[in-house]
Amino acid sequence: MSHAEDHEGTRRDFLYYATAGAGAVATGAAVWPLVNQMNPSADVRALASIRVDVSGIEEGTQLTVKWLGKPVFIRRRTPTEIEEGRAVTMDQLVDTSARNANKPAGSDASDANRTMDEAGEWLVMMGVCTHLGCVPIGNNSGDYDGWFCPCHGSHYDTAGRIRKGPAPENLPVPPAVFEDESTLVLG
Ligand code: FES
Repeated sequence: MSHAEDHEGTRRDFLYYATAGAGAVATGAAVWPLVNQMNPSADVRALASIRVDVSGIEEGTQLTVKWLGKPVFIRRRTPTEIEEGRAVTMDQLVDTSARNANKPAGSDASDANRTMDEAGEWLVMMGVCTHLGCVPIGNNSGDYDGWFCPCHGSHYDTAGRIRKGPAPENLPVPPAVFEDESTLVLG
């Protein structure tokens, strides 16, 4: 074997081991967050839950807060928005699932199953388009008086249900509860 061949062989071996080594590191990194999620420490659990003062939210306006790194829309709906949401029947919907973490699995997407309170005034949902994750524009936007995602043209109604465009699902409602009349706990 010439000196040049010997050198090339060594280099190939080195590349092989370097690649194998990187693979091992990547696998380790992928496993760790999974284990960590299964056993969250107290500070991680605390971060997963936030309190929001909703006393300043006027009827017909929306507050956007960040929860677990994502936007959450908290809207105080007008009587018109409630009426529009409640007039919709299941056969008009693209996605008939409530997508509400606070309701039993299998609940339908009726307006009452999407809101926080019986009167339907409070709507809380993730502000992340179910198509490819853009943040939809609110304040009676789009063809259904709710939210519009301009990225590829998805229209959501006044209950955050997908009505038109490429998004496949309603905007999900995260775990949330009113601690008292002005404090909403997310998570
Ligand atoms: S990300 Fe919203 S329509 Fe594509």
